[in-house]
Amino acid sequence: MTGAFETVGVVGLGTMGAGIAEVFALAGLAVIGVEADLAALERGRGHLEGSTAKAVAKGRLGEAERAEILARVSFTTSLEDLAGADLVIEAIPEVMEFKRALFTDLDRICKPSTVLATNTSSLSVTEIAVTTTRPGRVVGMHFFNPAPVMKLVEVVRTVITEDGLAEEVADLARRLGKTPVTVGDRAGFVVNRLLLTYLNHAAVLLENGLADRDGIDAAMRLGVGLPMGPFALLDLIGLDTSYEVMCVLFQESRDRRHAPAPILRELVTAGLLGRKSGGGFYRGEQPAGPLSTSKPSVGSVAVLGEDGDGFADKLSAAGFKSAAAADADVVVALSRTPVIELAAGLAHPERLVGLHLVGDRIAEVASTVLTSPEAARAAEGLVRIAGRTPVLCRDRAEFVVDALLYPYLNDAVRMYDSGYAAIEDIDAAMKLGCGYPSGPFEMLDELGLETVRDGLRALYAEYREPSLAPAPLLDQLVTAGVRSIRDLP
Ligand code: 3HC
Repeated sequence: MTGAFETVGVVGLGTMGAGIAEVFALAGLAVIGVEADLAALERGRGHLEGSTAKAVAKGRLGEAERAEILARVSFTTSLEDLAGADLVIEAIPEVMEFKRALFTDLDRICKPSTVLATNTSSLSVTEIAVTTTRPGRVVGMHFFNPAPVMKLVEVVRTVITEDGLAEEVADLARRLGKTPVTVGDRAGFVVNRLLLTYLNHAAVLLENGLADRDGIDAAMRLGVGLPMGPFALLDLIGLDTSYEVMCVLFQESRDRRHAPAPILRELVTAGLLGRKSGGGFYRGEQPAGPLSTSKPSVGSVAVLGEDGDGFADKLSAAGFKSAAAADADVVVALSRTPVIELAAGLAHPERLVGLHLVGDRIAEVASTVLTSPEAARAAEGLVRIAGRTPVLCRDRAEFVVDALLYPYLNDAVRMYDSGYAAIEDIDAAMKLGCGYPSGPFEMLDELGLETVRDGLRALYAEYREPSLAPAPLLDQLVTAGVRSIRDLP
């Protein structure tokens, strides 16, 4: 049946729409690109020409091939030109009234067999479908930014989708070189529900002053191996889109963690929408240069706590004198938990800094309310000397990486437990849609269910946010001594 899709329409040629048009044309389909006016149409054409020119420059595409791809795409400002299309996908702004009006028009214009698809990030596909006289032939076909690169397509099937149609659309996605994951119609589907909740959480922690933008981004890139930090990714997705997705999630869940971080609204109102408007969390800054490894002027250091990484040895190899905690200029407490209690028991609590080594590339450097700026700066320098990137943060439960990672893993467990998606689909979606090195269930196996459960308990005790409490399934697995969620019968 996939052969039935030969001509597709793409309505809306912004970043996503133009990327989607490119993907279809690359796979050999005829594409009709539609925009509201000539200026927008030219911008869309520009996207496509620019992106394919880059592919030629990188040697991924030949000139002749590029010409063929561009020749497969026609541009129009008239929806009427979509009458004969086999499938039309919309990628217009995330406003339900716009989508409903568009689908009413498409339903009138397109032949009865045309499949109408929406690339909505989170809006209800069912609500869009019921505006047409063919709700059974309306599906979600959700691509990920940048569409030519990310391998996932979420195919969204509603309760009224015709039997077999989701499979046909999934086959079409495969023909585009993508991996489809078919899911039901729930706000945010799989990826945005997990991803945007985590990105929003990062923005909330930024506003709380847990760490700064660059620290949080570095923590998640270098500490977890994600391709981008949360703020660089929010800028890529667009802060307006991110804000809208959060509003839809919140409307469905009423979970405070889904309430958009106020900073998102503020940036959007200021016109700082991310990359597409030239600035968002990042505003044209140059990437940070090589980190200084100049030696901090510290006479002696005390290293407390379990030192699995040989941190103390690295410092003495670099020429730092070790001393007892009472005498040292800086006291570094290697710890997975906040260190304020330890600090309060010292003669010089201002000299104590908490240090949490994450993986082998970063160290979280936690300042308590008593830590002096000098001690924090010295610890930052010591971390660099030890060959790690320092992430300065406050002395809060789970510091930065785990505070962001564990709730995301918890949400994935809840999603699975709700019956919405299978473990393999959730893992595949996060890896292919976001370029994560492993899926949430793979990460859970790697970290250990008990470690994550205990981390969530600590986060809940600290922030008292109900959704930070361990998912009942996670708790039960740990209590039952089950090591992997995959071991469930
Ligand atoms: N169009 C076409 N190709 C592109 C591109 C674009 N916009 N951006 C990057 N590429 C290509 C590059 O040309 C390069 O190809 P090559 O290897 O053949 O030369 C390849 O992708 C890798 O790019 P770079 O080397 O320039 O950069 P990186 O290695 O840093 O990768 C990235 C860039 C692919 C964006 C990577 O950082 C990544 O995977 N980031 C995560 C993106 C993500 O999470 N997306 C999902 C967002 S959620 C979403 O979209 C849903 C929505 O509803 C909100």
